[in-house]
Amino acid sequence: MITFEGVTKTYPDGTTAVSDLSLTVPSDRITVIVGPSGCGKTTTLRMVNRMLEPTEGRILWDEEPLSARPVTTLRRQMGYVIQSGGLFPHRTVLDNIGTVPGLLGWTKAKTRARSLELLDAVGLDPALARRFPGQLSGGQQQRVGVARALAADPLVMLMDEPFSAVDPVVRAELHELFLGLQRELSKTIIMITHDIDEAIELGDQVAILRVGGILAQAGTPQQLLEEPADAFVEGFVGKDRGYRSLSFQPADRLSLDEVPTTTDAAGARGRTLLLDEDRRPVGWAGLREDGRPMPLGSTFDPSSDNLRTALDAALTSPAGLAVAVRDGRFAGVVDPEAVLGQLAEHRSAEARGAVEAAGSTEAAP
Ligand SMILES: Nc1ncnc2c1ncn2[C@@H]1O[C@H](COP(=O)(O)OP(=O)(O)O)[C@@H](O)[C@H]1O
Ligand SMILES: [Mg+2]
Repeated sequence: MITFEGVTKTYPDGTTAVSDLSLTVPSDRITVIVGPSGCGKTTTLRMVNRMLEPTEGRILWDEEPLSARPVTTLRRQMGYVIQSGGLFPHRTVLDNIGTVPGLLGWTKAKTRARSLELLDAVGLDPALARRFPGQLSGGQQQRVGVARALAADPLVMLMDEPFSAVDPVVRAELHELFLGLQRELSKTIIMITHDIDEAIELGDQVAILRVGGILAQAGTPQQLLEEPADAFVEGFVGKDRGYRSLSFQPADRLSLDEVPTTTDAAGARGRTLLLDEDRRPVGWAGLREDGRPMPLGSTFDPSSDNLRTALDAALTSPAGLAVAVRDGRFAGVVDPEAVLGQLAEHRSAEARGAVEAAGSTEAAP
């Protein structure tokens, strides 16, 4: 656990980049710090591995002030990844990955073996080992940057806009890689981004900063979307936050309705779901004059999907109904209003819960 206690950083020219920041970064989880350009994100990160020192306040790591730890030891325990990879241009991919093990005095053989292992872990072909960074794509360079930061198995990963410089498709691949690695490795991660969508996708905890390094709100993505602390956070998380928060609600409490079904498209009259012999939905019948079936659209599984998937299924359905399947077999239908109604119900249940909780505190002896 890393704890910021009233941390302020004022640069010599008088710029206050971070103001009285108090924040707890839990171990083995991803904390994302997000905010507009110039709001003090990089300054905050650089204080964690003591490239910068706070002007006021302090940072603790597992209860012990960072200032009590030798800087060299500290940096070896913390991997650092920056935006454009930050690779050494005149070193091969393999030598880049082995930088820290080299500094730690590992043998050549051990460093090489570890570097090859990491090349594989970040999904790169071993054939790339002898290349130089300039001979790699942006996404490949970021993978090497992540591998290099992981080389000496650090306890903490500090990542400054690691996925900002690549196109959306590559970014999505890197997100998947990153979450997969984290499931395996469980590092304590502080990642920075200016992109709220990325923060919400990747963060177990998200801290939103405003200019001046002032903490606007910290919480789970769901908390930020559902209970923004003020207008700044509300504006920052975006107008479609209601729609986004659908993805945090499971679809298993939706009540499913009946709809006429058939295995014979030609004979259908009116909105009828077309099933195969195993009761798997295949399309909609009875919607067209010429009797030809229409595509099914997407479906959802109430036991594993969320309300957003259910709503998407309803909106892509030519019949205007989301088709629920269990083990691939037809389970029922839901209309879009029912999905949104479920969200409203969840919200009011939460509000009631909060009121009751407040009441019970007062009533306690
Ligand atoms: N070395 C420095 N000297 C003076 N001001 C700085 C220095 N580094 C950053 N700043 C200023 O501190 C503020 C925060 O910068 P930074 O932490 O880099 O923000 P971010 O990473 O959120 O874009 C900005 O106003 C920036 O201009
Ligand atoms: Mg920055």
